[in-house]
Amino acid sequence: MASAANSLASPRVVNIEDLRQLARRRVPCSVFDYLDGGAEDEWTLRENPRAFNDILFRPRSAVAFAECDFRARVVGHDLAFPGVLAPVGYSRLIHPQGELAGARAAGEIGTAYTLSTISGYKLENVKAATKGPAWYQLYLLGGRAAAESGIDRAKRAGFSALVFTVDTAISGMRERDPRNGMKALLGSNPFAKLPYLPDILAHPRWLAGFLADGGLPKLENIVIAGKGPMDLIDVSSALAEAAVSWDDLKWIRKVWDGPILIKGLLTGEDARRAVDEGAAAVIVSNHGGRQLDSVYPAIRALPEVAAAVNGRTEVLMDGGIRRGSDIVKAICMGARAVLIGRAYAYGLAAAGYPGVVRALEILRADVDRTLRLLGCQSIATLDASYVDFPQHWRR
Ligand code: FNR
Repeated sequence: MASAANSLASPRVVNIEDLRQLARRRVPCSVFDYLDGGAEDEWTLRENPRAFNDILFRPRSAVAFAECDFRARVVGHDLAFPGVLAPVGYSRLIHPQGELAGARAAGEIGTAYTLSTISGYKLENVKAATKGPAWYQLYLLGGRAAAESGIDRAKRAGFSALVFTVDTAISGMRERDPRNGMKALLGSNPFAKLPYLPDILAHPRWLAGFLADGGLPKLENIVIAGKGPMDLIDVSSALAEAAVSWDDLKWIRKVWDGPILIKGLLTGEDARRAVDEGAAAVIVSNHGGRQLDSVYPAIRALPEVAAAVNGRTEVLMDGGIRRGSDIVKAICMGARAVLIGRAYAYGLAAAGYPGVVRALEILRADVDRTLRLLGCQSIATLDASYVDFPQHWRR
């Protein structure tokens, strides 16, 4: 852990891109591309972070204060940092510490952790790993009965919000996965894995961790009656049978009485529908450019959604957050908080728990610096007067 921590310090790791490069070196190509890649031409993947450059700050100079106030109130939680950790499936394959590392680091910084349905650790253990709030992200993999038992366990374990992802009717075509061996790695045919063996053997540290962890983990939170936890399979085929509709939200509300966040909306129409269905929050998201390519970068869709819901529910966003200034921009444009996906997952891939901590440290220092240079003392007082962005984004 100490050596990992040293290799993560400045000047080796100054920003999230440095963590990304470290991750690229430390995990097999199949794993890195699974994490880093997006759908089809990866246009939306590239545009998500780039679109933040179209937003310019309007700072207030000669404003002095001692401490910045990072707090954000999100679905009833007072978060000490306005960046929640997004659900990242297969985290335990990226690094053996997987979801436990993410949850623990989120708790350390005082924010929430969102556990994906596609997770290798039992949700009870993930909840126990964090001092902060834990949210459970729901896919209907394995059908309603499996989902209901997951929801019930989440409730009993103390998860405080449900994140219902609605942009995954089928899995997007992430072209790097079949090329670089992720599909073969997850599949059951040992011969299909052979061509990718040299790359895996070239990453002995990752391989040793993977083998010591028992190899491919089971999906501990999708328990099929009479069969037990689902095998870690290529989830894309199972997702196709788990497409959701607004009707599903109705029965979910019967079995979960806590807040529900609807994740994966990009239009004002869908956001209004989510409000009508009782969403405690909507998450403007294109799944990090992994689903439908050529959709709006998420930050561009944010003003339309914020205007459509008009304060009737909370608005969060994710997609392309690589710097703390991106977090500040999103909040200026109407988000309560953001979700952070790859930015922390690169840290996980690079070094497990210390890597996630380093990613969050970088983002927090960025937010602190940005607020000071912007002349704004607190997250809660950021608003559109601090930014300039293309008027046509408003629709
Ligand atoms: C994801 N995302 C995701 N979303 C979700 O609702 N359930 C899931 O299981 C996953 N799994 C997943 C795996 C990987 C490797 C990535 C990169 C992303 C999407 C995620 O929650 C979030 O929407 C995006 O990651 C946000 O974009 P950035 O921050 O990665 O650019």
